[in-house]
Amino acid sequence: MTKDYLTSGQQLTIGVLGLGHVGLPTALGFASLGWSVVGADDDQDKVKCLGRGEMPFYEPGLEELLRDQLALGRFRLSSDVPEVVQEADVIFVCVGTPQHEDGSADVSQLERVAITIARHLNRYKLIVEKSTTPVRTASQLKRAIARYSDDDLDFDVAVNPEFLREGSAVFDFMNPDRIVLGVDSQRAKELLLRIYKPLIKHNGYQDSGTDGSTHSDSTEVNRHSGNSPSGSPIVLTDPNTAEIIKHASNSFLATKISFINLVSDMCEVSGADVREVASAMGMDPRISPHFLDAGVGFGGYCLPKDLRAFIFMGEERNVDMALLRAVSDVNDARVEKVISKIRQALWVLEDKTLAIWGLAFKPGTGDIREAPSIEIMGRLLAERCSLRVYDPEAMLEFKSSFSGSPERVVYCKSPEDACEGAHGVLLLTEWPQFREVDLAQVRDIMTLPVIVDGRNLLDPNEVRQLGFEYHCMGR
Ligand code: UGA
Repeated sequence: MTKDYLTSGQQLTIGVLGLGHVGLPTALGFASLGWSVVGADDDQDKVKCLGRGEMPFYEPGLEELLRDQLALGRFRLSSDVPEVVQEADVIFVCVGTPQHEDGSADVSQLERVAITIARHLNRYKLIVEKSTTPVRTASQLKRAIARYSDDDLDFDVAVNPEFLREGSAVFDFMNPDRIVLGVDSQRAKELLLRIYKPLIKHNGYQDSGTDGSTHSDSTEVNRHSGNSPSGSPIVLTDPNTAEIIKHASNSFLATKISFINLVSDMCEVSGADVREVASAMGMDPRISPHFLDAGVGFGGYCLPKDLRAFIFMGEERNVDMALLRAVSDVNDARVEKVISKIRQALWVLEDKTLAIWGLAFKPGTGDIREAPSIEIMGRLLAERCSLRVYDPEAMLEFKSSFSGSPERVVYCKSPEDACEGAHGVLLLTEWPQFREVDLAQVRDIMTLPVIVDGRNLLDPNEVRQLGFEYHCMGR
């Protein structure tokens, strides 16, 4: 197949390998842009579940999209990765990059994918790395595919980091702040621009890419941007830079959170209000108001892991990563901060019962990976507290994986139920429904009217007027 076939108006088949929190929204996003997409995953139960139109995890709006795209025939599932490799023109690699003990990324799944691709290359393919990977992974992928492939078939490897967030994955895929394309060939660039055409902004893109120069190519983008008048800017760059953009972005977000948590501690000892400080800081467009919510710290599968991986990557190359180490340390210290607040509220923790509102690492998801709730609950159980827990989406997942003292953890059917007989409420995830709880009623079924709001979700005046002792973060 020639370049003309792939970059002309003919239909392309997109293969997506790895159907997790990034791969599935990506696959369904491309399908809803009109592309023919085939997805595969090593987990055959997941593939079967998706084939029935059922979601293996909670993500708002994704199940509807899955059912629509399956019905339209634009999204198909396969249990045969080699078949997907052969059928696809462009392969998005979205497999996991978990963590080794030392913080480095485990890229063994990527190598396995590279070998499978190499063994089943049957014509030119563009392989796109979407997983978050250490810098220079794309060049390793390229080397591995060339090394394990029998034929001398042409292929390209590009880097297209994903910035979508769990809980708003569908919206984020369709409305990216930027689309970063790390390419080192004209053909890869043209293919990716073609695939993303409906999402691209009218007025040009930054190109610091394939020829080393920086320029804006508004003519080409105008051709590629017909459907989306308010589309997204494209950043065309080289693969190494694209990989660093992803790590730098997540590390910067983590830095903002640890920074505001440090300011929150400062506010607490000074009688100031971190919410007002953050709001005024955020009015400066150089700072922006986003990611300045103080609380129990950042969790999830990305920020903590990617931060550690970036630190490892830098230190391995003798770059001083002290700043990011401090970001990580500040985050780790949030657990003790919360425990000391509960101690301040209840004095002795032994034999106290706490209602835990929220287990997920953030609202809008059932994901509990590296959720602050895990460590905080572990500490409370070590102090011999009993816990009555509730989360709208994460209960099953939490129950099946949390290893601490099951005899002292009760899984409750509502936030109100969790408060029955409790000496205090500890709010760990800012689910909007916790704001709707009738606190006057809840107060009457609690042993002590105490709330420790780890996310500053509730209104301090309102809660105190209802007779609660209210502790929050940095105000
Ligand atoms: C993060 C990034 O925001 C995405 O851009 C990126 O694509 C994704 O990682 C990834 O690499 O795949 P996500 O893990 O879904 O997305 O979660 P975030 O919304 O970033 O929240 C991370 C944590 O920070 C949560 O625990 C949240 O509660 C906490 N957080 C966030 C704060 O404590 N304060 C804030 O102001 C914002």
